[in-house]
Amino acid sequence: MGGDSSNTREGSVATGRGGARVLSVVNQKGGCGKTTTTVNLAGALSVEGARVLVIDIDPQAHATLALGIDPDELSESLLELLSDPHGPKDLQQILIQASSGIDLAPASLALSALEHGVSFKQTTARTGRLKSLIDSLPHLYDFVLVDCPPALNLLTLNALRASTDVIVPLEASFFAVDGVQKLLEAIGHLEERIGRSLNARVLPTLFDARTRYARETLRDIRALFNEQCFETVIRQNVKLQEAARHGLPIHYYAPSTPGAEDYASAALEVATGRPPDLSNRNPLMQNGEIKAVPEREVLIQFQDERAGDVRVAGDFNGWVPDKNVASHVEVKGPSRILTKILRLAPGTYQYRCVIDGEWCIDPGNPDSVAGPMGHPNSVLHVR
Ligand SMILES: Nc1ncnc2c1ncn2[C@@H]1O[C@H](COP(=O)(O)OP(=O)(O)OP(=O)(O)O)[C@@H](O)[C@H]1O
Ligand SMILES: [Mg+2]
Repeated sequence: MGGDSSNTREGSVATGRGGARVLSVVNQKGGCGKTTTTVNLAGALSVEGARVLVIDIDPQAHATLALGIDPDELSESLLELLSDPHGPKDLQQILIQASSGIDLAPASLALSALEHGVSFKQTTARTGRLKSLIDSLPHLYDFVLVDCPPALNLLTLNALRASTDVIVPLEASFFAVDGVQKLLEAIGHLEERIGRSLNARVLPTLFDARTRYARETLRDIRALFNEQCFETVIRQNVKLQEAARHGLPIHYYAPSTPGAEDYASAALEVATGRPPDLSNRNPLMQNGEIKAVPEREVLIQFQDERAGDVRVAGDFNGWVPDKNVASHVEVKGPSRILTKILRLAPGTYQYRCVIDGEWCIDPGNPDSVAGPMGHPNSVLHVR
């Protein structure tokens, strides 16, 4: 993590003059739920009566959009504040109130010009600019949440330097863990340089409660990060996507949904510093353990003339061929019937087959959809 030319130590607390907690939502991996977490944590804190400011420092401007503001219609954004010597001088000049009542320092797509610090205002150390802007805010906010881009660049460093706390959303799939360990190391180096803790904690997101694979992964994440991991787990919930499309945090769009429940729990954890009693609040948990969802045995059969190798991979096993899948072969004359046995909770799943090393849809299943990677996936409905 380079680019910070300043070595100034900043004392033990980084609150602005008003004493706001400043939480940056950071992970260099794209699509792990940073913006969703920023916006919905802001919503959950604000419905509880907290005064909340969201700062969108990501040139994609997704948090700006998810709070119902069109970045193309703005005359001023963080860009002018961070780079234009003749532009606005303080954060308050660019704030807009979103319809949910949350204040927003919006991003514009042109913020990307600042990613490498080309035209940062030279008035403060390049990574200390956002901190000095937040520090000079009057006492208006209890929480400031900063949505970061999927990179450890100068914009993210500005957010980290301004933070009292860091939230690292981690998609509950083990492939994503490596990058988070590196990020936590980088944050550790920054903490040494600035002489205070940034209280970085991992928030498991996009958890698919139906699959044993996801439950195992979550257990591994907890074992690895220990008390650096939130007790709260954010489940997959399509209402979170819908809410973003409507420009509202989930608490203002669909308050009685798992998404609202999970972000309320995360907000409580953030606000009190203590894990909420999830055994009562969260239907996923039972006596501090993740509750198993009732599963059914599901059979996928292949009839094959040849002795080919067939494996299955899907969202139920983290797309790892044959993980958590049992196989049974029956020979009937020249033909061979291969049965794949899975245990799955009710729901709809996507999967592909790996036949002699080649990935393809299930030749015996006519039901398929375009998957997130662009190619078709077979669909499995478990009732
Ligand atoms: N818990 C969830 N349930 C369902 N969908 C979710 C959930 N969390 C995030 N998503 C969806 O996943 C996608 C990526 O989420 P989001 O934009 O929050 O990630 P991000 O880390 O901010 O991405 P980027 O790195 O591009 O900024 C979005 O379409 C979002 O609506
Ligand atoms: Mg984002």
